[in-house]
Amino acid sequence: MKNGKALVEVEAVSKYYGVDKQKVAALADIKLEVYPGDFMTLSGPSGSGKTTLLNLIGALDRQDEGDIRILGRSLSRLNFDEMTEIRRHSIGFIFQSYNLIPVMTVLENAAFVLRLQNVPAEAAHKQALEALAAVGLQGMEKRFPNQLSGGQQQRVAVARAIAARPALLLADEPTANLDSKNAEELLETMEHLNREHGVTFVFSTHDPRVMQRAQRIIHMKDGRILEQTQRQVG
Ligand SMILES: Nc1ncnc2c1ncn2[C@@H]1O[C@H](COP(=O)(O)OP(=O)(O)OP(=O)(O)O)[C@@H](O)[C@H]1O
Ligand SMILES: [Mg+2]
Repeated sequence: MKNGKALVEVEAVSKYYGVDKQKVAALADIKLEVYPGDFMTLSGPSGSGKTTLLNLIGALDRQDEGDIRILGRSLSRLNFDEMTEIRRHSIGFIFQSYNLIPVMTVLENAAFVLRLQNVPAEAAHKQALEALAAVGLQGMEKRFPNQLSGGQQQRVAVARAIAARPALLLADEPTANLDSKNAEELLETMEHLNREHGVTFVFSTHDPRVMQRAQRIIHMKDGRILEQTQRQVG
């Protein structure tokens, strides 16, 4: 979707790890735009820089060169508290390892980000219930994470990320721990959220089947973007 203003602008971004001769460019001169409504994947072999790029876009880490703007705000000009603020209010994360809180119920986990935003409990629970329904987990609200399958836990993580209705959802290998049936279901949930609720997704994957579902594929290798491909969706 190229009409309208970019949600994320990545401009000439480089990121290095290590020092001096050991220095490795995890990302080199990356340029990328994410538009509202995008359903985009970062693909590429292990070590190509996918996680590093997601972490920078998500304001979890800082680049060494270049700039990243989210909703027009330059991340390099933000201090630590402002970074936390933008992360908490504009961006949702789905991590490969789910990161659910074991002593909280499914409902409490799904409401977690909203509670961090100081949304009162009742309103937070209402929004979390809607998010759980959107990922097909009605009736599971009172369970604890260890009483769910891996695929269901992953969907709680998705519900937690979407409950706060962030402008942007970032997911690092969201299907990596799922069997093909659960991976398929998660992809369908993400597509539904994208189409029906306008949620913008940027996710990374190794899996060619997952890659094929994206509207835009960013092919990465050795910290660079090799090419971008766009799929016609009907
Ligand atoms: N904390 C770190 N310290 C040093 N080097 C790192 C660190 N994190 C990543 N790297 C290096 O940066 C490069 C990019 O790593 P990154 O994790 O972004 O790749 P990736 O595409 O996500 O790989 P994978 O598919 O295995 O998850 C790699 O060469 C990696 O070894
Ligand atoms: Mg990675």
